Amino acid sequence: MPSVEMTTDLDRRFQSLHVLDNLTITAAARRAGVSNKRLFASRGPRALDLLATPGLNVSGGVKYNPDGSRWSPGAMAAKAGSIYAVHKRQDVGTREKLQEKWSRKTLFGRVHVWDLMQLLHFTIDHSDHILHYTSQLIHCLQVYNGITRTSFDPNKYDARYKRDMQIAAVIHDLGKLLTLFGEQDGNVDCMNRLIQHTLPNANESGACGLANMQIQWNHDEYGYQKLRRNLRLPRRVLATVRTHSLREIGGPSLRVFKWQWDEFSAHLTPEDKEDIPFVMHMRLFDQKTKRRTDVVPDVDIAEVLQLLEEYFEDGMLEW
Ligand SMILES: [Fe+2]
Ligand SMILES: [Fe+2]
Repeated sequence: MPSVEMTTDLDRRFQSLHVLDNLTITAAARRAGVSNKRLFASRGPRALDLLATPGLNVSGGVKYNPDGSRWSPGAMAAKAGSIYAVHKRQDVGTREKLQEKWSRKTLFGRVHVWDLMQLLHFTIDHSDHILHYTSQLIHCLQVYNGITRTSFDPNKYDARYKRDMQIAAVIHDLGKLLTLFGEQDGNVDCMNRLIQHTLPNANESGACGLANMQIQWNHDEYGYQKLRRNLRLPRRVLATVRTHSLREIGGPSLRVFKWQWDEFSAHLTPEDKEDIPFVMHMRLFDQKTKRRTDVVPDVDIAEVLQLLEEYFEDGMLEW
């Protein structure tokens, strides 16, 4: 009897990465006007090579049932509860430990940002039952497309606004790569809260600012710690990476009581107040562009490479 070839979910992720890799070579060569070989000789390793990085477990970023099938959306919603339970247990000590464990550790060395992004194709956010098995690469490109296709009123927004939103979209979830290195979902995914009872008294000590608040740790803070050394990234873009998951910045809501907001907002600096509307605007795209799919969105890769080179020297960074 002929054997039946089973294509697993992971196989399919590899296949789309191969396609993307070929498209990238074509796009990069078209932009640079040089042969592929010369172009890539000057660059760090590509996404497919990065998969062989010591400590990286390519099957660590997406979990399945024991038989290899996907969890149902309902089952994923139920798992989200246990992921959030881990996240909610974080205290100041946990935050410090995670910061110590990951933020100063070099995982890849100097790499192209587009290569890092492609690795996100092997990660999903298990606390997000809307996206379900949609990869974080697809998600970031959905957000990028949503912003790219929107026109921003020049009377309302400054000249760099859209460009800054586009780069924020592309890089905002890079920190989710940590699940490929074994960090548990509860410390990588989820929305964040201020850790309870950690704010000093604003009347006595003045506003401590978002940068000094004890916020639950996830891909936001990790991504920020990796990106902050890049001086080309504007403050509002770094603020987006660092706080896009923070519930409190959205103001009073079902989850943030008025008194909590009053206490929190008393600690914001003028710079925080200037950045928050930008972060919230980007968060709107982050949430509203979510579509459950396995198809990598149609993006002009040459345009994305151009964007990355505007904000990163040669499109590369230390990670
Ligand atoms: Fe995020
Ligand atoms: Fe996101």
